[in-house]
Amino acid sequence: MRLDKFLASFSDYSRKEIKAVLKEKRVTVGGSVLTDPSAHINPETDIITLDGEPLVYKPYIYFMMNKPAGFITATEDRRDRTVMEFVPREFLKYEPFPVGRLDKDTEGLLVFTNDGELAHRLLSPKKKVPKVYLATAERKISEKDIKAFRKGIYIDEDGYTTLPGDLKVVSEGGNPVCEVTIYEGKFHQVKRMFEKCGNRVLYLKRITFAGVALDDSLKTGQVRELTAAETDILRSCFKNE
Ligand code: URA
Repeated sequence: MRLDKFLASFSDYSRKEIKAVLKEKRVTVGGSVLTDPSAHINPETDIITLDGEPLVYKPYIYFMMNKPAGFITATEDRRDRTVMEFVPREFLKYEPFPVGRLDKDTEGLLVFTNDGELAHRLLSPKKKVPKVYLATAERKISEKDIKAFRKGIYIDEDGYTTLPGDLKVVSEGGNPVCEVTIYEGKFHQVKRMFEKCGNRVLYLKRITFAGVALDDSLKTGQVRELTAAETDILRSCFKNE
């Protein structure tokens, strides 16, 4: 990797500022001062310091967002505002992307990473990764609805029946609030499952993804890096492979 690219990724300086930093002899690689931005370094084996402090090489980033309603889950869009507006600059330089998608009006847990392999596995329909949502419904939930969710619901004109899920009523006064667990991520899946039961989702929030729970101290629009224990939970979905 070029030295200036490494420094731009793992320090707070932009690529432009790095040129000056190097000229000022503030960077060492393996104990020697380097000033050439195009010098090649091995970020996994070379010890690189800036102002005497070692820079820790971290190829991957994993973080969660409490997604606000009104933003689409995409890295860019010509029409709509995207969730990327809430990703801080120091995370953006890792080129993260959201793992899966929440609808524009859905809130809650969105995991981001630049680890393509893990993301691919988490999104594979074969892996049946669990996702838990809180859904506020328009009408009362019946025993028949609960059984239908447990059996799998026919949601598509093209003959698709969802995998068995779980529907639990957590509060009944007024519009019922339910906890919904599904093991796939079809377009508008939770909303369509409710619609097939003659009901309607008024509000939807994801609270867990692949066993990782939304940190409820995060306000909508806030992000935080996953802990090592949380990234282990994501990987543990595949530990027997
Ligand atoms: N199901 C939906 O209907 N919408 C979402 O955003 C996620 C799951």
